[in-house]
Amino acid sequence: MNFSKHFALMVSALTLAGAMLAHAGGHDGNPAANARQAHMKLYAFNLDVIGAMAKGEVDYNAEIARSTANNLLALAMMHQDAYWAPGTSTVELGNETRALPSIWEDGSRFGDIGVQLIEAASQLAEAAGESQDAMRGAIRGVGGACSACHRNYRQR
Ligand code: HEC
Repeated sequence: MNFSKHFALMVSALTLAGAMLAHAGGHDGNPAANARQAHMKLYAFNLDVIGAMAKGEVDYNAEIARSTANNLLALAMMHQDAYWAPGTSTVELGNETRALPSIWEDGSRFGDIGVQLIEAASQLAEAAGESQDAMRGAIRGVGGACSACHRNYRQR
């Protein structure tokens, strides 16, 4: 077999495999938007666990409260620049995302609110294992950071 022809076939087979892979993940949309939406889902899951304990829907458990708050803090501290990539707002991706273009505009406070969440989550991580009351007090700061960002930077 002619080598270059073989090579070309190989490349087109690889391209096809790549296209299929892209398609397999592709129906869910843009990879950067998927990653940050998954990150947000993890925030919500962990906050719900603590919220249920705060409301008394689930018995307070210091161990679970502490580890769940630590998850929130770890998530908040992750480097997220790659999936908040410019060019991935509602303007470019339409309904694949709810990330408003103002995130990337001059004067954006998006990063500051991210830091605010880290601070609130670290207070919650300290308080959550102490008592249900301490946890209740600290949860508000976290919820406040979530909603401050959504109010300003997430499409309704
Ligand atoms: C610094 C800004 C910011 C902070 C802080 C933030 N969010 Fe978000 N959140 C967003 C943006 C922007 C989107 C839309 C992302 C997209 O669609 O690409 C979003 C989307 C979501 C979604 C929908 C995810 C999906 O599946 O589409 C949930 C749930 C969510 N956030 C929960 C939370 C919770 C809970 C917290 C706090 C612990 C939080 N967020 C903190 C900006 C933020």
